[in-house]
Amino acid sequence: MFTALAAAEIVVIDGNKITAGENLAEAYRTKGFFYWLVRGSSNVFIRMPELLHSSERGDGSYSRDAAAIAMACRDINHNFFDPVFQAAIAGIEYSSVADLGCGSGERLFQLLRYRDDAKGLGIDVAHAALTVAEAAAIDAGLSERVAFLNDDVSKLEPRLEFDCVDLITCFLMGHDFWPLENCVESLRRIRIAFPHAKRLLLGDTARTTQYRQQDFPIFTLGFEVGHDLMGTYIPTLCEWDVAIERSGWTCIKTHLVHTPADSVIFELEPR
Ligand SMILES: C[S@@+](CC[C@H](N)C(=O)[O-])C[C@H]1O[C@@H](n2cnc3c(N)ncnc32)[C@H](O)[C@@H]1O
Repeated sequence: MFTALAAAEIVVIDGNKITAGENLAEAYRTKGFFYWLVRGSSNVFIRMPELLHSSERGDGSYSRDAAAIAMACRDINHNFFDPVFQAAIAGIEYSSVADLGCGSGERLFQLLRYRDDAKGLGIDVAHAALTVAEAAAIDAGLSERVAFLNDDVSKLEPRLEFDCVDLITCFLMGHDFWPLENCVESLRRIRIAFPHAKRLLLGDTARTTQYRQQDFPIFTLGFEVGHDLMGTYIPTLCEWDVAIERSGWTCIKTHLVHTPADSVIFELEPR
């Protein structure tokens, strides 16, 4: 293991002594991408030969490790999306927040820590992710202020507990709303289901368009190939603009996130 790590200058081997190499800090910071690929999505890549046949894509016959994906995304958010998110949220007042595709629940916990009187609702389609989130809420001492709901956020109907929600967040799952017509429909439904939401902050990684052959930034190829194998369309930033234009939401600001490449947080207001 150390020989492999030394080859990438993550550690330095000097006889029996192993010390940190110049790439250790960066490897640690980016570990969420590797966890997403190697643990969370391993089954997709193992089944690559069969999934390459387009008729078998998107049939759900592969299973991803939803708990590992939730943990990986928590790490990716912490290191890459959160600095931008904190600036975006700074000027926004809220008392009740719903997080769509909440995964580990960390986004909600963060928002509840910023506002002592706020309440949170996490919605996710995966039981395994909700198990992680519920345990984490207890660990964080926030279980009294947060609730979780097992539902498909692309098909939401109005519910009593959605009525008080004034802020919606949705991170690293917006691509699951696609293709285009489904995405437009899902965003319209969300606006109706949460009639008092003043903002929807939607953060996601788009399909890159500017890289060729070499110099691909970290994660891009694994993320795009993995989703192709699952039959999940990853839209480009331009395609997102088209969907938002038709969605009943107005984009009042696009906050750029530099890693992974072509990542953004759209700040949307109901039209
Ligand atoms: C990549 S993870 C991101 C988790 C979390 N939002 C974060 O940023 O750490 C995507 C999450 O969205 C959930 N998800 C995907 N499609 C969904 C849907 N249609 N309805 C509800 N949850 C969904 C998945 O189960 C998973 O937990």
